[in-house]
Amino acid sequence: MINYEKLFSKNAIGLKRSEIRELLKVTRIPGIISFAGGLPAPDLFPIEEVKDVTDYILEKEGKIALQYGPTEGDTRLKEELVRHMKDEGIETTVDNILIVSASQQALDLVAKIFLNRKDFVFVEEPTYVGGIQAFNSYGANMVAVKSDKDGILPESLEANIKTLIDKGFSDKLKLIYIIPDFQNPAGITTSEERRKRILDIAERYDLIVIEDTPYRQLRYSGNSITPMITLDNSDRVISLFTFSKIFAPGFRLGWIVGPKELIEKIIMAKQAADLCTSPFTQSITYEYLKRGYLEKQINIIRKDYMEKRDKMLSSLEKFMPKLEGLSWTHPEGGLFLWVNLPEYMDSRELFLKAIDKKVAFVIGEAFHPQAKCKNSFRLNFSYATKENIEEGIKRLANAIKEYEEEIKNKKFGDSVVFP
Ligand SMILES: Cc1ncc(COP(=O)(O)O)c(C=O)c1O
Repeated sequence: MINYEKLFSKNAIGLKRSEIRELLKVTRIPGIISFAGGLPAPDLFPIEEVKDVTDYILEKEGKIALQYGPTEGDTRLKEELVRHMKDEGIETTVDNILIVSASQQALDLVAKIFLNRKDFVFVEEPTYVGGIQAFNSYGANMVAVKSDKDGILPESLEANIKTLIDKGFSDKLKLIYIIPDFQNPAGITTSEERRKRILDIAERYDLIVIEDTPYRQLRYSGNSITPMITLDNSDRVISLFTFSKIFAPGFRLGWIVGPKELIEKIIMAKQAADLCTSPFTQSITYEYLKRGYLEKQINIIRKDYMEKRDKMLSSLEKFMPKLEGLSWTHPEGGLFLWVNLPEYMDSRELFLKAIDKKVAFVIGEAFHPQAKCKNSFRLNFSYATKENIEEGIKRLANAIKEYEEEIKNKKFGDSVVFP
């Protein structure tokens, strides 16, 4: 028998099967209303348009679309993206863009070019589980920085940096990873003032900022906030975008915007990873954008998710028990909101009770590099139907009420047995 462990790299040894993903398998039980995944509503996928565009591409340029393509990506698609991003307040050029196989690949490539084992990455508390996985796979040390409704606290970020410098780690401090718009998982948006202060800290301590923004185009209320890459004037922001939430995650298509020199380095890393992102899906997406379908699709998604967000917020208001410490965020866009339970509750225990009642969510510790956030959880509102959102929140509220009763009885029982 071969001892594979002996042969694995240090990075591979560090890879662990995600316990959370195992836990989420129960959400596939029939009858469960799942607020767990981060999936777009499948009924909104533009299947007819994609069929149309695909036929056209195969007919017109099948021999190119089915061939290998350049690692940088399809120039025509990048030109369309330059135009699209202008509307988002981002002035860029084709040379500052790299097409990738969606944002998860972007995270992996960015981690690959910057991180040695034990280097430090500053993340929000809580942060995106896939970000944690990507940084973990390169052996990074992650520091979760205290955050509130306006994003990470700059003073806490700076205090963490100073402590590490005092301990002699100054050359190991590398990245600040931020999801500034309708964050996954908490649904919060980093204010413009915070964005500027974070950039100022990054500049003073010479760190790179990774702005991961898959939800930016999905705003339902409030005013748009300037992207960090636009606020940056020292060439230290890399922005990650994806078609997953505004078009179709099955296309596995996204793009990175950043300083040319960094894009060139990432291109080299990508060459080793997959040579190029599928030219076929790039051609289809280019034509889809050129025909103006994307704007139309974003409007359809926005309307539906806004109604779903409102349904989830009004259902929470209506059904949740009035408990001290029980609160939730009110996102202005995106796919998620975050529930804080009273400190004495554990979302893992609640999860099992919720599953009994046939409703699912993701426990808070999944979104923390050190598995904290135990009394919190994430709810997704894009996937379930509006009717199921109301029913699911009703079930969840009942699970919380029962859990509260159980805790109260236990306390009472304990005090009787041990006066
Ligand atoms: C913050 C964030 N980054 C990256 C991703 C990865 O998305 P994809 O690889 O589908 O583009 C997600 C997916 O939910 C996300 O929420």
